[in-house]
Amino acid sequence: MTENNISRLFNFPSLFKDESKLFPEYVPSHLPHREEQLNLLASYFNGLLNYNDFPFYRVICYGPVGTGKTAVVKFFGKLIADEASKRGINLQYIHVNCQIERTKFMVVRKIIESLIPNIPKRGFSPQQLLDWLIDYLEEENLRILLTLDEADYLIRSEADTLYDLTRFPEISKGKSRISFVLVLRDISLLYRLNESILSTLQKNMIKFNPYTSKELYTILKERADEALQSDVVNDNIIMEISNRVGYDRQGNGDARFALEILWRSVKIAEMKMLNKVTLEHVKLAFSEMYPGFNQEIIQSLDRHEKIILKAIARSFKNSEESSIPINRVKENYNLICEEYGESPRRYTQFWTYVRNLKNKGLINVQVKSIGRGRRSFISLDIPSEIIEKNLDL
Ligand SMILES: Nc1ncnc2c1ncn2[C@@H]1O[C@H](COP(=O)(O)OP(=O)(O)O)[C@@H](O)[C@H]1O
Ligand SMILES: [Mg+2]
Repeated sequence: MTENNISRLFNFPSLFKDESKLFPEYVPSHLPHREEQLNLLASYFNGLLNYNDFPFYRVICYGPVGTGKTAVVKFFGKLIADEASKRGINLQYIHVNCQIERTKFMVVRKIIESLIPNIPKRGFSPQQLLDWLIDYLEEENLRILLTLDEADYLIRSEADTLYDLTRFPEISKGKSRISFVLVLRDISLLYRLNESILSTLQKNMIKFNPYTSKELYTILKERADEALQSDVVNDNIIMEISNRVGYDRQGNGDARFALEILWRSVKIAEMKMLNKVTLEHVKLAFSEMYPGFNQEIIQSLDRHEKIILKAIARSFKNSEESSIPINRVKENYNLICEEYGESPRRYTQFWTYVRNLKNKGLINVQVKSIGRGRRSFISLDIPSEIIEKNLDL
């Protein structure tokens, strides 16, 4: 590369004003369509702003991925800590991601680290850390609002951590200095907890629904205004992404996914040295998220190929396996043919279709030796729900 080329490599004009505003960890200062959840949090935790009381609050926020749970609780944490400080109350907000901190020990250590950054990290037992924390809170007259985010992981691995947290008032001299928000995806996990925890937790639940296309439109528009140079995306682009991701349309209502598509679309336009994002870039961005997936290819399929693809998607939907034996696909294929009033093709023809799907890169076929025989298995690189949603039969 010549000197000139190298300097061009890093010096093309960026379409971003501030790229980080589209990153998943950024917490925007305005969260459209989440006013209700914020209001509920405020009403549940209002008592923390009372100087003399130390009531014990716990709230559950739940909903699928990308519905703004993390953004909302972080935003709320900052609001309430600011308000407390205005009122002369020592309140600190602490956010712990249980996907990273998976044990009680790690959670408590994380809390302590957030309070005192340079604390020695080794040489303490979990119980010592806990005692130390309780004394510290008392000495400093401090109260904490603790979020256990991605708590699904904690419940699966160490459910008794929650038990300890619910016992905090007893072990901390009657004053409850730690209140908490539990953030969960899978609400059914709660039933793994013991009854007494469950009954206290269940009273305050805040639900986060997947976003509709209209809601995503406002969200994307505001984030695009913050992140991009003006006129890089127009309304059509934002609308296309929101329609594809919106829960009421074809998508799963995941704002994180929608933001990533927006970010990718802009990157693609940038790499092509253009100053605007086109619909073509958006399509490319979607197909990059699912290599091998291409709307046009799916549309060009024979009807029976589509039915087989649907049968495969359906087989994966009800299964945790990474590959599915071909005879199970055939059974589902026969069922779907029946649903659509088609007569199922015989095995040889069925195989020809399967091979076509493989050649088009939509599915993988592996042959495994089992005992003395050999059996074929199908696997997918593309999420099955994406396939189902894009197949029209
Ligand atoms: N109402 C909203 N307004 C603006 N951005 C949002 C909103 N909801 C979610 N986001 C953004 O979408 C991404 C995913 O949200 P996040 O809070 O991480 O979802 P969850 O924790 O439910 O998986 C983040 O970048 C977040 O800032
Ligand atoms: Mg989250």
